[in-house]
Amino acid sequence: MLWRAQAFLASGLAAAAAAQSTAYPNNTTPTPPGGNNTTPPSELKDAFSPPFYPSPWMDGSGGWESAYQKAQAFVRQLTLLEKVNLTTGVGWEGEACVGNVGSVPRLGFAGLCMQDSPLGIRFADYVSAFPAGGTIAASWDRGAFYQRGYQMGLEHRGKGVDVQLGPVVGPIGRNPKGGRNWEGFSPDPVLSGIAVAATVKGIQDAGVIACTKHYILNEQEHFRQPGNFEDFGFVDAISSNIDDKTLHELYLWPFADAVRAGTGSIMCSYNKVNNSQACQNSYLQNYILKGELGFQGFIMSDWDAQHSGVASSFAGLDMSMPGDTDFDSTYSFWGPNLTLSIINGTVPEWRLDDMVTRIMAAYYFVGRDTARVPVNFNSWSLDTYGYQHAFAQVGYTLINQHVDVRDEHALSIRSAAARSTVLLKNSGVLPLNGREKFTAVFGDDATENPYGPNGCPDHGCDNGTLAMGWGSGTAFYAYLVTPLEAIKNELPLGRVVQSVTDNYAYSQISALAKQASVSLVFVNADSGEGYITVDGNAGDRNNMSLWQDGDALIRNVSGNCNNTIVVIHSVGPVELGSFYQNKNVTAILWAGLPGEQSGNSIADVLYGRVNPGGKLPFTFGAEASQYGPDLIYKPTNGHDSPQDNFEEGVFIDYRAFDKNNIDPIYEFGFGLSYTTFEYSNLVVTNVPAGPYTPTTGKTQAAPVLGNSSTDPADYQWPANLTYVNAYIYPYLNSTDPREASDDREYGAEVTLPEGATDGSPQPRIAAGGAPGGNPALWDVLFTVSATITNNGTVAGEEVAQLYISLGGDDDPVVALRNFDRLSIQPGQSTTFTADITRRDVSNWDTTTQNWVIANTTKTVYVGASSRKLPLSAVLTF
Ligand SMILES: *[C@@H]1O[C@H](CO)[C@@H](O)[C@H](O)[C@H]1NC(C)=O
Ligand SMILES: *[C@@H]1O[C@H](CO)[C@@H](O)[C@H](O)[C@H]1NC(C)=O
Ligand SMILES: *[C@@H]1O[C@H](CO)[C@@H](O)[C@H](O)[C@H]1NC(C)=O
Ligand SMILES: *[C@@H]1O[C@H](CO)[C@@H](O)[C@H](O)[C@H]1NC(C)=O
Ligand SMILES: *[C@@H]1O[C@H](CO)[C@@H](O)[C@H](O)[C@H]1NC(C)=O
Ligand SMILES: *[C@@H]1O[C@H](CO)[C@@H](O)[C@H](O)[C@H]1NC(C)=O
Ligand SMILES: *[C@@H]1O[C@H](CO)[C@@H](O)[C@H](O)[C@H]1NC(C)=O
Ligand SMILES: *[C@@H]1O[C@H](CO)[C@@H](O)[C@H](O)[C@H]1NC(C)=O
Ligand SMILES: *[C@@H]1O[C@H](CO)[C@@H](O)[C@H](O)[C@H]1NC(C)=O
Ligand SMILES: *[C@@H]1O[C@H](CO)[C@@H](O)[C@H](O)[C@H]1NC(C)=O
Repeated sequence: MLWRAQAFLASGLAAAAAAQSTAYPNNTTPTPPGGNNTTPPSELKDAFSPPFYPSPWMDGSGGWESAYQKAQAFVRQLTLLEKVNLTTGVGWEGEACVGNVGSVPRLGFAGLCMQDSPLGIRFADYVSAFPAGGTIAASWDRGAFYQRGYQMGLEHRGKGVDVQLGPVVGPIGRNPKGGRNWEGFSPDPVLSGIAVAATVKGIQDAGVIACTKHYILNEQEHFRQPGNFEDFGFVDAISSNIDDKTLHELYLWPFADAVRAGTGSIMCSYNKVNNSQACQNSYLQNYILKGELGFQGFIMSDWDAQHSGVASSFAGLDMSMPGDTDFDSTYSFWGPNLTLSIINGTVPEWRLDDMVTRIMAAYYFVGRDTARVPVNFNSWSLDTYGYQHAFAQVGYTLINQHVDVRDEHALSIRSAAARSTVLLKNSGVLPLNGREKFTAVFGDDATENPYGPNGCPDHGCDNGTLAMGWGSGTAFYAYLVTPLEAIKNELPLGRVVQSVTDNYAYSQISALAKQASVSLVFVNADSGEGYITVDGNAGDRNNMSLWQDGDALIRNVSGNCNNTIVVIHSVGPVELGSFYQNKNVTAILWAGLPGEQSGNSIADVLYGRVNPGGKLPFTFGAEASQYGPDLIYKPTNGHDSPQDNFEEGVFIDYRAFDKNNIDPIYEFGFGLSYTTFEYSNLVVTNVPAGPYTPTTGKTQAAPVLGNSSTDPADYQWPANLTYVNAYIYPYLNSTDPREASDDREYGAEVTLPEGATDGSPQPRIAAGGAPGGNPALWDVLFTVSATITNNGTVAGEEVAQLYISLGGDDDPVVALRNFDRLSIQPGQSTTFTADITRRDVSNWDTTTQNWVIANTTKTVYVGASSRKLPLSAVLTF
């Protein structure tokens, strides 16, 4: 982390209470943020997040019963210090993984290892680099989602990782320039939700805990954390201000799917939501996630996203990452402070028991008790021998066993990336047949990074072919197959293939293009996490242009060659206006961020071994402004939090284009094939379902699994333990609590948030009842079928898509609700079938705080993209 803003951070209980309780109305009934479903912007302007306490304790419902029982049995054996150990990270670079909590040596229990990333393993050798989330989304293939998750899970398992820090559904991709959009799947909540659920299942079936992140509304990199900026001085974290309806119908939707799929952990985000830090936002964590969504796993903080001790305990945080207040500060909001807050009676021990029970339940839920192997790599060095504690530089030992965990995953990576490639334009030149007389390849994006595939820290550069973005959401490449080498391998002896990979060698480019019978131009656009700036882009993209002057490259080649094929590797949509209509540009492909098999997978599509069937998981528009509000690049509020009002509501990506009647260049869901498909014969069948019953009644009281001594003398440093510099332990340094806390405000009198310590049975939430929400939301109300015919001459795959118009004034023109990827032989037909659930036809009602089926005319559409919907029918309830 590049920022240091410790002095400001709301650190103690006093600040926390001010932020969470006294400043706000004294009630435990949440007032939904923003008020009602026609929330005018003025209400977002002074957005605040209402308090909700106590933090719900897990109850083992929804398939978690056995894990819950095992976790409780484990926690019952633990001492207070051991429990604290399992909740608090040991500090940045304190152990082998990017995050590690303390251990329980007495029971032979090693501390849990948390490791990046959502597309593979960061900081390790002999691992696979999978296609990025936003690329696999383009496959629209549930099997590919699951397989990728499963194989990533196996690799993490083989390295000894307990928690894979992924998948991502926040950012969802509100604005295409958001730096980390590519880590997630799609700005459509249903595509994202289906992808995240399958990925979570895959990772966890492999015996590793998934961490779905970042919760929530972390939609841009600029100002995501409080920090000191060279240009602006101190600026507090941005506040994403959202109304209740938009939260439920868009941003929360895929998180609900992840919870329903059993995600063992969720990471709270850096930003504020409605002016309350996400990791101490009691409304989002207690009411929404653990209450309404019935989340059974644990919430961990993003790295240094925790800004308080007691307040975050009450607001539902369960694990502090990486444990220190700031990287290697030697201090912690938890650790000794958590021990103190329990023994001084501020935080009830049941809250700590719940934290640890959730952590251990996730452990048992995915079967880590049988899947676990010791960690056998080290994030901070690829050397075989080195320091166990990298920051302190102590414990020289065997740190990397170079375990090759890749198996044959390269095969599915290649096939998944090819299946995720989207054919946007084809005047008939594709597929190539390998008998081209003269093939020319252009672009820095076709070739190697001169610094090597891992030559730029966290991939923070745009040199050579782009196959993942930059930041913590990356993996090391064992190798990266470039497009140029794959294309050369396609061409039998005697054919001509030449390349120019310097985008600025203008005369050589035009000279080569003139000779070519086919020119393949590779261009890209990159983005990443905000702690690295590449070419002036501080994580978020500054614009939607191609990088490395890609437009000039395409102009130069297509000006000299009437058969120019453009391949785009990018993190999201880019501006195509300068070339997509040019007749010399005979084909365009979007290949996303394909991972290590990049070259082979694009060659599979170019040379026709794979008939493209990918569809866009976002919209290609003419310019950035068409997508809605811009990102906030400069402080708007002095040193206080920039106020990012999500005024556009649910209208992002295609929903914005549809609402505002803007023609996209290539719409959401669009993608061509080497064959063609026809849609016919829509049949909608009502399915009888019971009524929607709000959940009622009360929970059990908070289970109390321990009753620890309150004497500070019992928690002192063990005489025989050697202190590792900057490491976070649970022990007290002094028998004087004030001294042990090292907090000037220790013991200050504060008003606790109303209800925070109340462990008595609590009312259940009407829209809740099971992980993911009220189970009746998944009742099937209709089944839909349609006939899809391959009326071309080659076998192909078609993603048939089902959209619904909910019919209200505030509803999208159409919203994706289901899809299936079908393989169809030429001349054959197949039947597309899809369910429509109660959730699919409901709106969030802010008054009743529940989902309702509004009394509007609802229409179902089936077709090939969000704008090609030849079949439709009115739904009759
Ligand atoms: C909150 O309300 C309850 C009863 O409604 C009252 O007992 C309590 O003192 C109030 N707390 C604050 C901080 O106003
Ligand atoms: C919703 O907001 C509008 C505009 O502020 C207001 O007129 C209306 O009374 C509100 N409805 C409810 C149910 O709060
Ligand atoms: C807490 O974890 C640390 C680091 O793994 C370990 O050295 C220490 O013994 C643990 N403390 C207890 C009480 O288990
Ligand atoms: C306890 O937390 C406070 C902030 O609330 C911090 O200033 C202090 O250093 C912490 N103490 C320890 C021992 O980590
Ligand atoms: C690496 O890429 C940057 C732009 O991101 C460019 O300025 C630089 O010249 C490139 N270096 C090499 C060696 O390709
Ligand atoms: C298309 O390519 C031909 C060369 O084959 C060139 O003469 C012509 O100017 C190009 N057209 C455009 C619009 O660039
Ligand atoms: C390009 O121009 C050549 C020569 O005029 C012609 O034979 C060929 O068919 C053209 N190719 C395309 C794809 O239009
Ligand atoms: C440290 O001392 C305690 C108490 O005597 C003992 O239980 C523990 O095993 C010792 N730990 C080590 C690492 O020697
Ligand atoms: C606790 O004590 C150890 C050993 O004396 C010391 O090195 C360390 O700095 C102290 N930690 C804190 C948080 O005060
Ligand atoms: C209890 O401990 C916490 C954590 O160190 C501290 O913030 C708080 O002020 C303490 N409260 C009392 C009443 O001593």
